[in-house]
Amino acid sequence: MQDILDKLEERRQSARLGGGEARINAQHAKGKLTARERIELLVDAGSFEEYDMFKEHRSIDFGMENNKVAGDGVVIGSGTVNGRLIFIYSQDFTVFGGSLSETHAEKICKIMEMAMKNGAPIIGINDSGGARIQEGVSALAGYAEVFQQNVLASGVVPQISLIMGPCAGGAVYSPAMTDFIFMVKDSSYMFVTGPDVVKTVTNETVSQEELGGATTHTVRSGVADHAYENDVEAIKQTRRLIDFLPLNNREKPPTRQTFDKHDREENSLDTLIPANPNHPYDMHELIRKTVDEGDFFEIQPKYAKNIITGFARIEGSTVGIVANQPMVLAGCLDNDASRKAARFVRFCDCFSIPIITYVDVPGFLPGTAQEYGGVIKHGAKLLFAYGEATVPKITIITRKAYGGAYDVMASKHLRGDLNFAWPTAEIAVMGAEGAVKIIFREEAKDPEKLAAKTNEYSEKFANPFVAARRGYIDDVIMPHATRRRISRGLRMLKNKDLQNPWKKHDNIPL
Ligand code: HXC
Repeated sequence: MQDILDKLEERRQSARLGGGEARINAQHAKGKLTARERIELLVDAGSFEEYDMFKEHRSIDFGMENNKVAGDGVVIGSGTVNGRLIFIYSQDFTVFGGSLSETHAEKICKIMEMAMKNGAPIIGINDSGGARIQEGVSALAGYAEVFQQNVLASGVVPQISLIMGPCAGGAVYSPAMTDFIFMVKDSSYMFVTGPDVVKTVTNETVSQEELGGATTHTVRSGVADHAYENDVEAIKQTRRLIDFLPLNNREKPPTRQTFDKHDREENSLDTLIPANPNHPYDMHELIRKTVDEGDFFEIQPKYAKNIITGFARIEGSTVGIVANQPMVLAGCLDNDASRKAARFVRFCDCFSIPIITYVDVPGFLPGTAQEYGGVIKHGAKLLFAYGEATVPKITIITRKAYGGAYDVMASKHLRGDLNFAWPTAEIAVMGAEGAVKIIFREEAKDPEKLAAKTNEYSEKFANPFVAARRGYIDDVIMPHATRRRISRGLRMLKNKDLQNPWKKHDNIPL
């Protein structure tokens, strides 16, 4: 009997070695961890349960029938993160470059189905040379099966992709359909066609890093959410993100113990808004000072910085934060900011995470670049996302809420549950001077008259009380009381029940 047990252990040991010592060393030499090392770091110690360790490919071309490695280049299983269940697949670059075969895809699909059936997030660790070249169309079919599972899982369980090596060709489309993408600087890249094809088709010379590295995707394209220095940091932050998320779409957001009092007052917020309405201030300060222990997990911090999105907690329970950032483009909404925030709002709504919106927005960014870039459709995405969201929505206008951007930013008219304004709020069609120049064109030519009319317009509209008189603002609140008002609002909204009319699905302006 002991023989049999020993043989099993031997088989396991051999499977755990993947492509062998030499390739593991090569992986380490590139500053990368192996598929299994990554999993060990991601899950709680000793919690990983591996499945399909002995699965092999069925390919018989190009000598592949004599070249099999147990597990076929991907490790799948379940584990826990701070005691909460997750499912994982981790591609093993030491086995055929982590390339995706028919059976490799079957393993990924299997673990995704398990994640959906059991209601827990799926974390995909991608490190792969793409479709297994020796398998041809079977590998392509495998990819499509994975894509289909991504679609089915979307909005059912959170899906997180870690890009920790190459990710090229159609392979990028599975991560692209997941909720969050984290990359590692200098060792991961994502592109549909690589530098060689780019050179042939467009005659551009571009490196892999420039074309699809972590900086490219977190700063320019917005495809990825975060870029980290190395595998360890990326995995540590993934654990932190998981702590904020519900396990599935039927769960409430998780809660954790907090020692931050719900009614803590922050007197410094009373002087956050500069005297000059054209001077910026950092919206991060308001976020940090109102959430539990100042703990804020920002999503896409380097992309479309004129809007801030991320997760925090109030009274220990997760909230999504969306906030205009007056430090960048004066907080204007533009194409990128609208898309970034819309996707975030929709994620929160999928997973029952209340949304807190901080507003200081002078409007949509004007210009041909924006119009030609489709600001009408992109701005509509954010409008649509807020309008369809049924989770609790609390909005705080700190200063400007001008024009269409006032409507868009979780206004009362888009079913905002609690809409508060600071006394410094200005809710109007546009800024006073701009308004006067349009409606009093003649008088505006005389600087004195312009100043007088501007003053008159400001007095009348540059305040929150016109909106408050109509009930569009539920209360004008003291800045220092913001955390208390949000906390009590969330308590009140705890059992909010709001349904949209029945439909197969909506048709958000993509
Ligand atoms: C089979 C592959 C492979 C692949 C790499 N390998 N990619 N085997 N299919 N797609 C193997 C290599 O033969 C090698 O095996 C080992 O993995 C490591 O590869 P290296 O080239 O030595 O590593 P490195 O220098 O780090 O380069 C990594 C790489 C390169 C950039 C990923 O291997 C590469 O360009 N591979 C091909 C990428 C590609 O064109 N894939 C198809 C994309 S199209 P040994 O035995 O020597 O260790 C696609 C379509 C999907 O994916 C469509 C979905 C809709």
